[in-house]
This record gives sequence, C-alpha cells and structure tokens, in this order.
Amino acid sequence: MKAVVAQGYGSAAVLAVEDVPIPRPGPGQIQVRVVAAALNPADLRSLSGVLAELAPLEFPHVPGSDFAGTVTEVGEGVTRFAVGDEVFGIGLPRATVHMATLFASPPSLTTGTLAEYAVFEADTPALALRPPALEAERAAALPIVGLTALSLLRVGRFQPGETVLVIGATGGVGSAVVPLLAAAKAHVIATAGAADEDYVRGLGADEVIDHRATDVVAETSRRCPDGVDAVVNLALPGARLIEVGRVIRSGGRLLNVAYPAPDPGAFERDDLTVETVYGAARPGDLDELAARAAEGSLPSPISRRYRLSDGARAYLELEQEHTRGKLIVLTDTHA
Ligand SMILES: NC(=O)c1ccc[n+]([C@@H]2O[C@H](COP(=O)([O-])OP(=O)(O)OC[C@H]3O[C@@H](n4cnc5c(N)ncnc54)[C@H](OP(=O)(O)O)[C@@H]3O)[C@@H](O)[C@H]2O)c1
Repeated sequence: MKAVVAQGYGSAAVLAVEDVPIPRPGPGQIQVRVVAAALNPADLRSLSGVLAELAPLEFPHVPGSDFAGTVTEVGEGVTRFAVGDEVFGIGLPRATVHMATLFASPPSLTTGTLAEYAVFEADTPALALRPPALEAERAAALPIVGLTALSLLRVGRFQPGETVLVIGATGGVGSAVVPLLAAAKAHVIATAGAADEDYVRGLGADEVIDHRATDVVAETSRRCPDGVDAVVNLALPGARLIEVGRVIRSGGRLLNVAYPAPDPGAFERDDLTVETVYGAARPGDLDELAARAAEGSLPSPISRRYRLSDGARAYLELEQEHTRGKLIVLTDTHA
C-alpha cells in the first residue's frame, strides 16, 4: 500500500510517499481502509525526535493519528466493530505506549493514518462509529482538536459572561475551542492575523486582536483593565506565558495545550491557576463531537485537502505555512 513514510528522525522534509506492507490486525485490533486523515503538529513533534528518549519511534514510521475510514478486517475477540462499519477516531503512534498514563483513558495505538490502511486497538473510547450525516473528511478533522477542546471546556468550567483570551485561535484546536466557548456563552477575545478576522468571528469570537501587528498583552490590558477571567493558550511556548499571566485577573486561570508546557511555579503567583490540558477520549466524547458537527455547532473547517500522493508536501505546508482550521489528506482513490 501507499503511505507517507519517514526512514529516520527529522523535519517534514524527511517524509516521502512509499510502498509499505499492509498492516494486519492482531487480537483486539481492527484494520481500517483510511478514507481521510487529518494532520496535527504532534505528528511532526514525534518525528522531530524530541520525544525519542520517552517514546522512540520505529522506522519506517508512518505518521498520523486522526482518521475516518471503513473497517476491512477484525482481529480475534473484537465484537465492537464489524467489517464494513464506517468509523473515525484517533490512534496514537505505537511508540507512545509508555506515555499512556498521561491520558485519562487508554488511547488506541495505531500503525499510522497517513496510509491506505491502518490498524487500531478496537476497545477504546478513541474510536467510534461515524454517523451517516457526517462526511468522512469532516469526521477525520474532529478527533484530536475536538477532544482537546472538550477537555479544555471541562477543566476551565467557563461561566456565561466570563472573558476568555484565546491565543492561537486560527489553527486546528482554535476551530473547535472557539465555537465551544461561544456555546458556553463566554466572551471570547481571539488572536488572529487581519486576514483571519472574519474567520474567527465566524467561529464565535466576539473580539479579535491581531497578534502580528499588535502587542497582545498590552492590547488585552488596554481592553480589559481589570484582567480577563482566563487565557486559553494554543500557540505560545511556556516561557512566553509568564508575561501573558499579567492580563489574568486575580483568581483567574491559564489553560495551556501547547508545547513546551509552562512551569506553574515560574509565574510566582498563588492567585493564578496554571494547568496544561491533554485531549483524551472519554466514552461518548466522539459521539458528542460528531453530533455537534453534524448539527452545525462545531464547524470543523477544512482549509486544504491533499491526495495521499501529496501527503509529504502537506506536512511541509503544515510546518512552514500559516494554517487555518484543518489540513486533510484523502486517499487517492477517494480524492
Ligand atoms: N495538549 C494536547 O492534548 C494537544 C492537542 C492538540 C494540539 N496540541 C498543541 O496545541 C498547539 C496548537 O495545535 P493546533 O492543531 O491548533 O496547531 P495549528 O493548527 O498549527 O495552529 C496553531 C495556530 O497558532 C497560531 N500562532 C502561531 N504563533 C502564534 C503567536 N505567536 N501568537 C498567536 N498565535 C500564534 C497560528 O496562527 P498564525 O499562523 O496566524 O500565527 C496557528 O493558526 C500545538 O502546539 C499542538 O501541538 C496539544
């Protein structure tokens, strides 16, 4: 089969589309014919080697976690899914098995979704049936960003009327977290370049600060002299968040998902909650995301689509270019 493959650690430039053997499911696993896969920054972080000590990759390595596709084979003991089922979800690279304790429930490990076929553990809330009302490409765009947004909303316990600054609102996680915050009736201030202002307002942002043309901390302080109730950080590395903490009112919270995570002690403020949140599927979460997407309250916008044969270029563009919403790869026969 065709797959996007890395033969060693490196940037997106080491990826190429190659022929590799079709993975077969073992006991408790399913094989899926991938219809659509979404790209995520974490795919490139694993490939870079920064996690090599904790979770060494095996090469050839096929990247990709988010997917939608059709079950083509079930392993021994699988009763939850049958051949022909339309499914979607998230499988983490098998190398991350030692990091599973970070997640509230067991992740489904995978052979990599940027491929014609991938294998997943079946018995986990990280996989679900795709409702017919939700197209495969939209289902593939949802899992990582949607689960992360759900986790942020649970941890943040946002109240109607609270002011929340979302840093990095134009990307994948922003496309899920801004609509969920708006649905919770928070007042959302989103950072976005001028060309993305209408886009983030369409997601539900009430105000926009152009992070390319403006000092976000100074501008937020000007607009909210008493401080915002919370900051949701989807972009800045931990060390850059110390100054961002200045715009949060006493008793407020800073919720982070980006890397590297901030050190809460570095803020030297005991009136501030600083927490890094990880997206993990609880039972029913994927069904909830699919229902919200199908009814229209979670738009899961896709800005670019690629064929699998262009999958390596797609990762280069994720690495080097501005992203709005999600980038999706469709297998060649479906593109
Ligand atoms: N903890 C978890 O479980 C989890 C889950 C998913 C993602 N993540 C992490 O969360 C981060 C965001 O993921 P994503 O999928 O949304 O990434 P993405 O699609 O690449 O989007 C990132 C966004 O951040 C914006 N940005 C970059 N630098 C910025 C800055 N200095 N100020 C304001 N905005 C800035 C970019 O907009 P411009 O191009 O306009 O600057 C881009 O739209 C990544 O680090 C990812 O690895 C963590």
